[in-house]
Amino acid sequence: MYFTGKRVLVTGASRGIGFEIARNFIQAGAQVAVNGSNEKSVDAAIKELNKAKQTVAAPGNIGTVAGCESTVRKAIEAFGGLDILVNNAGVGAGRPIADCDEAMWDAHCDVNLKGLFFCCRAAIPELRKSGGNIVNIASDAGLMGVPGITVYCGTKGGVVNMSRAMALEIAPDVRVNCVCPGYVDTDMIRTTTKKKPDPEAYWQKMIDYAPLKRIASTDEIAYAVMYLASDNARFITGTSLAIDGGTTAGK
Ligand SMILES: NC(=O)c1ccc[n+]([C@@H]2O[C@H](COP(=O)([O-])OP(=O)(O)OC[C@H]3O[C@@H](n4cnc5c(N)ncnc54)[C@H](OP(=O)(O)O)[C@@H]3O)[C@@H](O)[C@H]2O)c1
Repeated sequence: MYFTGKRVLVTGASRGIGFEIARNFIQAGAQVAVNGSNEKSVDAAIKELNKAKQTVAAPGNIGTVAGCESTVRKAIEAFGGLDILVNNAGVGAGRPIADCDEAMWDAHCDVNLKGLFFCCRAAIPELRKSGGNIVNIASDAGLMGVPGITVYCGTKGGVVNMSRAMALEIAPDVRVNCVCPGYVDTDMIRTTTKKKPDPEAYWQKMIDYAPLKRIASTDEIAYAVMYLASDNARFITGTSLAIDGGTTAGK
């Protein structure tokens, strides 16, 4: 896939899945605005990407409307427009319902739902001009219920359905799609694993969770994002693509 001349903003690109999405777009010729929650994490990522001419720093807190707007503005000002928005920034923590407090609820809703919506709102006028598209990162936990991560499931289910509604509202100008990964080897699941009484057993449980019996790599998610963002997917909008080793196919 070629993205030469395409202007891309990836939120939460300082680490993990977002970093790999940014790396792959750059490799395919795109210019990429790299977002993370702070300047330090973004600068470190840009240094690692090592493609100064194709990258621009767009740090900002996606958990606030002001942070979303300034992030999108930085990308548009740097590139003179925008072709692709990838809403990847996200937080995820597992807790039984009784232990979920207001701070946890707010943190999940602010970044995973509110931030995603307001990045879209800020980017849509430019995406209409360029005939661009949006790819949202949800989760397999947005397609089914998973006990122990109820709040996360709520936000990711919201991303799936919000993507559909948005796709209808801004068609035919802008396409909106969604990718639903299963477990992916990033800090998000490694941090959770470390906190478990038996980390090795927990890791094995995650491997066994998918019918294909492994954890995904970040590039496997990036390839799906790039397909949906590409012209090859020009008749696709409002869809959710599960990259989950078969987990949501059924029992
Ligand atoms: N890993 C999985 O198993 C998995 C499975 C399904 C879906 N997902 C989804 O995939 C996406 C990426 O997950 P990941 O595993 O790559 O996570 P990760 O390794 O924890 O990285 C999270 C990224 O999001 C950024 N971020 C978090 N809060 C932010 C905020 N308030 N403002 C701006 N950026 C913020 C982080 O930036 P800083 O480092 O700068 O804070 C970082 O770049 C998330 O939406 C997640 O829910 C992950």
